[in-house]
Amino acid sequence: MKKILLFVLFTFVGVGVYSQNSANLNLVPAPAKIKVNPGQFTFDSATQLVLTDDSPEMQDAVAVFNRLLRRAANFSLQITHSPVATNAIICKLNSAIPNPEGYKLSVQKNLITLEGKTPQGIFYGMQTLRQLLPYQIERTYISNIAWTIPCVEIEDEPRFVHRGLMLDVSRHFMPKEFVYKFIDMLAYHKMNTFHWHLTEDQGWRIEITKYPKLTQIGAFRHKTLVGKYAAVGHRQWDNTTYGGFYTQKDIKDVIAYAKKKFITIIPEIEMPGHAIAAMAAYPELSCSGGPFEVEGLWGVFNDIFCPKEKTFEFLQDVLSEVADLFPSQYIHIGGDEAPKLRWKNCAHCQALIKKEGLKDEHELQSYFIKRIEKFVESKGKRIIGWDEILEGGLAPNATVMSWRGEEGGIAAAKQHHDVIMSPNTYAYLDYYQADPKTEPLAIGNYIPLWKTYSYNPVPAVLTPEESKHILGMQGNIWTEYLLTPSNVEYMAFPRGAAIAETGWSPQSKKNYNDFKTRIIAQFKRYDCFDWNYCKAILTEE
Ligand code: ACM
Ligand code: ZN
Repeated sequence: MKKILLFVLFTFVGVGVYSQNSANLNLVPAPAKIKVNPGQFTFDSATQLVLTDDSPEMQDAVAVFNRLLRRAANFSLQITHSPVATNAIICKLNSAIPNPEGYKLSVQKNLITLEGKTPQGIFYGMQTLRQLLPYQIERTYISNIAWTIPCVEIEDEPRFVHRGLMLDVSRHFMPKEFVYKFIDMLAYHKMNTFHWHLTEDQGWRIEITKYPKLTQIGAFRHKTLVGKYAAVGHRQWDNTTYGGFYTQKDIKDVIAYAKKKFITIIPEIEMPGHAIAAMAAYPELSCSGGPFEVEGLWGVFNDIFCPKEKTFEFLQDVLSEVADLFPSQYIHIGGDEAPKLRWKNCAHCQALIKKEGLKDEHELQSYFIKRIEKFVESKGKRIIGWDEILEGGLAPNATVMSWRGEEGGIAAAKQHHDVIMSPNTYAYLDYYQADPKTEPLAIGNYIPLWKTYSYNPVPAVLTPEESKHILGMQGNIWTEYLLTPSNVEYMAFPRGAAIAETGWSPQSKKNYNDFKTRIIAQFKRYDCFDWNYCKAILTEE
C-alpha cells in the first residue's frame, strides 16, 4: 500500500521528492541525487548505442552492459557514432561534470543520455542502468521479459576516491578465475580498488623472476592447522602440501581484466613481518639464518626480515618487478605485526641502531620503511602501510591504512598524511556476521551487516582540513578460515555492499533500513552471479 501511495506521489507530484528507494529501484550504492519521472524506456533489438568518443576506455565502459543484453535478451545495442534522436542511449563525455568518476543519467521515454567526465563515469552510469533493468538481465536468455527501465534523472558521484576490498590469497590461495569474479563484484558495486594481499608467513603467491625459490619453496606449505586455533599440544594438522601462486602472466591477465572494469589493483608485499614464506626460501634474509618452514599455523611470528643490505637488495629487486607489473600509483608494503624480539637480539640490528643514531627497534622499523619508501618513490610510486608504520615515525609521504580501529588513521590525518580507513571494528569481513553457533568457523569477533553499514570513515574529531586526508574505506578479507572461493563469497557480501555504499553515497543519504530493503532485492542478482552471499539479514529481528 505504501508503495502504491509513493508511486502516486511520484507520478503526480513528480518533482523534488527524494527517496533513496524511489519507486523500488533498489540501487546499491544509492545515487547522490535521483528523481523518478513517469513513464519508461524499453530496450529492443533496434535500440542504438551512440558513442561520441571511440576510445578503448569508452568501449570498455559500455562493453559489460552490451554483453549482458546479448546473453539475457538475445540482442545487443548497435554501436554508432552518428547522432540518433530516438530509441538510443547517447554516451558522451562532458568536462563540466565535476567528479572524474561522476555521471549524469537521464532516462526519457524515447532516449537515454549518459554523460561522464571520463569513461569511468560512463562505466558507473552503465552499472546503474544495469541495476534499473529487471534482474533477469543477469541471467542467460529468457523470453517474455520486457527490457524496460523507469524514467529517471540521476546525478551521481562518489563520496571518496578509494572504495575497495582487500583479499588475502596467502593463507588460502584463490585461483585466478575467482579473482576475476571478485573483481566483477567490486565493479558492480562501483568500487574502484582491489587490494591484493600477495605475501605472508603461510605462502608467497607472486612469481618473481629474479628469486625463483620464492614460489618454488615459498608458495607451498607442508601442513596446515585444522579447525579452530588451539594451544600447543592441542593443535591438529592436515600434514598435506598446500599452495599455489600466480605467474607474472597471470598477474598481467588479472591487471588487464581489472582495467576494463576500471579497478586499480594495489599489490601488497609484506615487510618486515609476515615474511616467513620468503625466509623459508631465502633464510639469509633473517636475523638468525633459519632454517624456516612455510608456516601452517596462523598468527604473528617473531622471525621477520633483518634490515641488512642483502635484505634491502632483495626487497628492492622484488619491488622493481612489482612496480613494473602493476600500473597502480601505490604499492602496499605491509608494516603490521612485526615483533621486535629478533632485532633486540641481533648483533647486526643493534649495530645498525647505533650507527644510525636510532632510539630503539621501533625507530629501526621506521628506518626500514623510510628506505623502502625512498626506493618505491624512485620507481615513480608511493607506499601504503598498515597503521604500525606510525610507530617510530612515519615515512614522509606514506599513506596509512588504519586497521586497529580508527586511531592510527586519526593520528596520520593529523600529521597531514593520507588515510584509508579499514578498521577491524567495522570493516573486517573475516569476522562473524551472525551468531557463531550457527555460522561456519571464523576467526572470531562479531560485525553484522548493520555495524559495517553504520561506519562513517571521517572521524568527528578531525578538522575539515584533516578530513580531506581520508581517502575512503576498505573491507579486508583475511582467509585463515576461508578455505575456498565460496567461503570468501559468503563473508564478503552483503557486507561488501555496505562498504561500497559507505564509500560512494553521501553520508546524509545513508539509512540502514532503506539499505536493507535494497540489498535484499539485490540478492536475486547475487543468485544470478552464483555468489554464495550470507542471508542472515533475512531472519534478523
Ligand atoms: C592486519 O590485520 N594485520 C593488518
Ligand atoms: Zn637482524
